[in-house]
Parts: sequence; structure tokens; C-alpha cells
Amino acid sequence: MFSSKTGCLCKCLKLETFVNMKKIKTIVSRDIGLALASLCSKYFLKSPHLHYGYWTSSLEVDIANVSIAQENYTTFLISHIPEGVKKILDVGCGTGEIARRLVEMGYQVDCVSPSSFLSRQARELLPNSCHIYECFYEQLQTENRYDLILFSESFQYISPQQAIKKTLDLLNDAGYILICDIFKKDTPEKSPLPGGHRLTMFYDIVAEHPLKNVKDIDITEQTAPTLDIVNDVLKQVVQPGVNLAQQLLDDRYPYMSKFLKWLYGKRINKLNRKYFSGEKTAENFKKFKSYRLILYKKDKFHKSLAT
Ligand SMILES: C[S@@+](CC[C@H](N)C(=O)[O-])C[C@H]1O[C@@H](n2cnc3c(N)ncnc32)[C@H](O)[C@@H]1O
Repeated sequence: MFSSKTGCLCKCLKLETFVNMKKIKTIVSRDIGLALASLCSKYFLKSPHLHYGYWTSSLEVDIANVSIAQENYTTFLISHIPEGVKKILDVGCGTGEIARRLVEMGYQVDCVSPSSFLSRQARELLPNSCHIYECFYEQLQTENRYDLILFSESFQYISPQQAIKKTLDLLNDAGYILICDIFKKDTPEKSPLPGGHRLTMFYDIVAEHPLKNVKDIDITEQTAPTLDIVNDVLKQVVQPGVNLAQQLLDDRYPYMSKFLKWLYGKRINKLNRKYFSGEKTAENFKKFKSYRLILYKKDKFHKSLAT
């Protein structure tokens, strides 16, 4: 009996180690992905931002206009900061561009940034008065309290329970949480697009906390066009580039090429399906995702009941 229990414990530990390793791998590749995205955004799009952007009806959906859409988004986001807010914590500040705008407008801003690459960019952009906590939000320890905690396209990376609990602890009484991000709709089919917590699950979690809904605006229509641009770049640039590199490898190193295909065939097919299936479109984004700006106010009365 003892040995079967020990065996079971070992299996559980192995499973836990496997799950943790997988999580670490996901976090590392996500970090590298975001760092690469920031480099591409800066050099090809001339934009310091790392979000989808907000396409107004008059703005032509063209790669040359992505930086304008991203500026529109920043203006739209900032316009929803309630009056009276002075101290803001920008969680997942990316390159620090939104925080920089907020500082310029007179807000006192601190940031959370787990990526050393992005934190370095943010430090160059922000004054010394802005403290950058270089850690995951889940691990943040501070005595500071804030009037508003901002999640601009960073909420999707954090467990909603943990994010809300931590935010309530870090907010001043009657403080705000402002989330602008992708959520998953409840659809029978599996989404070809990654990202976002399930919206219904998120609302259920919020309902268990002392939070009063102030605003909940659906901006899926205005953010979706970015997907058509991503799809176009994948089809017109990345896929032909990959095919050319493969042709070169086949021609110069035919044995190595065959060996690599044999070794990584399944993974290559998976990547082809993921990136070149042509499904990363605005239409699918609208079908499977809901991009929302959500503002909640910490409810003092509820808090006293809960504790
Ligand atoms: C898509 S970028 C958005 C950047 C910026 N807020 C913007 O709107 O341009 C996502 C950001 O979330 C950060 N992030 C990811 N996981 C996080 C976590 N667990 N805690 C805090 N930030 C996180 C990333 O480092 C990155 O800065």
C-alpha cells in the first residue's frame, strides 16, 4: 500500500513537473514573441505600441495605417480614465509608450513588466519617477496603492482570479480597474485564433468580487481589421519567404533538408496549419472573440460585507 501511494505521488510530481515545464516554455516563447513584435513594430510600422489598434470607419485598413490605429487606441483608452484618478499602475506596460503618454498628462505612473527586453525599452522612455516592477503581476509585492490599475492587452496573460484579487488589494478605496483586451466568446467550434479568457467565465469571477461595473464597451469591430493585415503579411511575405528558404535548403543541403523534415515533420505541419491556414482573419476574430474596454470601480460597501 505504501509503495502504491509512493508511486502515485511520484506520478503526480512528474505530471506537475511536466506541466510546470510546459508553462515555463509557453512563457519564454510568449516573451520572445512580444519582444520580436516590438522590434518589428518599431522598425517596419514606425510604432512604439504593442496592441491591435482602433480602426475608425474613415481609416483605410492598410499596413501603413497601423501606427495611426494604434495611436487612436491609446487616445480612446486614456479618454476612459475617470476624473479624480492620480496614481496609475500600468500592468504589462510593453514598451512603456502608454505610460509615457500618461506621465505627460500629469498622472503619477508605475509599471509592471516581466520582460527584461521590454522593461529596458520602457526605462529609456520613462522618467525616473516611474517605478518599473520587473516581475509578473502575480508576484508583485508593494506597499504602494493606486487609484487605477490598467491592463492594456495584458489581462489575457494573467489568471483572472489572481489578477482581480491582487488588484483589489492594490487599489485605494473606490479605485478603478481598467481592462482593454480580447476575450473568448462561447462558441461551439474551436477558435483558430489564440488569446483571451472566456468572457462568461470572467463575468462570473467578477460577480464574486466587490466590483461595480462602470463601463463595458465592445470594440471588436474596431480592432478586428488588424487581423486581416496580419493574415496578409503571413500570406504575402512570411509564407513565400519560408518556401524560398526551404527551396534553398533543398538545393544546397538535400540530405540535411530531408533529415530535418523527417525529424520535425509533425512540428512543421503544425506551424504551417497555425500560421498559413488563412484563418487569422477579421471575420474569424469577430466570430470567436470579443474585444472590450471594461471599467470597474472597487465597491467599498461590498468590501466591508465580504471581510
Ligand atoms: C500585448 S503586450 C501589451 C503592451 C502594452 N500594454 C500595450 O498596450 O501596448 C502584453 C504585455 O503584457 C505583459 N505581460 C505578460 N504576462 C504578464 C504578467 N503575468 N504580468 C504582468 N505583465 C505581463 C508583457 O510583458 C507585455 O508587456
